[in-house]
Amino acid sequence: MEIDFAKQLRGSLKVKELGLHIHFFDKIESTQDCALSMAQNDSPSGTVIIAEKQSAGRGRMGKKWISPKGGLWMSIILQPRFTSRKISLIQFIGALAVGDSILEMTGIVCTHKWPNDILIRGKKVCGILVDANFEGDKGGAVVVGIGLNANFSTQELFNSATLEGCSDVTTLRDEIKHDIALNDITKLIIEKLEHYYLLLEDGKTREIIESWKQGSEIFGQRVTVNDGNNVFNGRALDLDDSGALLITLADGSVKKILFGEVRVSYAV
Ligand code: BTN
Repeated sequence: MEIDFAKQLRGSLKVKELGLHIHFFDKIESTQDCALSMAQNDSPSGTVIIAEKQSAGRGRMGKKWISPKGGLWMSIILQPRFTSRKISLIQFIGALAVGDSILEMTGIVCTHKWPNDILIRGKKVCGILVDANFEGDKGGAVVVGIGLNANFSTQELFNSATLEGCSDVTTLRDEIKHDIALNDITKLIIEKLEHYYLLLEDGKTREIIESWKQGSEIFGQRVTVNDGNNVFNGRALDLDDSGALLITLADGSVKKILFGEVRVSYAV
């Protein structure tokens, strides 16, 4: 499996940088932690780590990420040639790459939930985790983690020992009623991620943000945002150039939110 999957993928990719080095594991604690330690040991930019299963997958805000066989569990090391101000946009290019790939392979139009979720019919099918070890203009490494619920059923997540984060979740198998070719979608995601990464390097910040916004349904809606410390109620207004969410509060002021969980609220 290891040799077939990684070899086939490496051979089929049309890329300049991402995916030139691929490491595949049958089982690992977390591809993200593996990639972070490889990045510290000078693995080249574009190195990809994929695992068939993760025993300690990590999600955002300290959550566990349940990662059974059949999903795409992948982390990619990047050493961006741009300044740290654009690092926060990497989560958006990850989401765009996954959304475009799902559309191309299944015809399903996904939506984006700020900051990093990819949804089908309002249910989360993929999450992006970005860990950065980056010092301003000195540069550094960023690891983009992609967790795509693909060839298993949602029921498998509910059967898992931990139910953390399992509500409002779906899988590609549950949506399209058959399995998807994992190597094909992996190839597409890596190629599209490289495409968007080059746009980001090229300074096309606003284009990336606008593309991401087109797939989001929150703008103009009343939202509740929990940043872990505070809960804000307001109307989703826009994203600024760093990807922060701007919401208009009841008193008319604009609140900039850097991270948190957002949901559409119906209370005024
Ligand atoms: C989220 O909370 O939505 C982000 C989930 C990211 C999960 C992926 S799976 C591959 C990589 N390895 C991890 O441990 N996490 C990320």
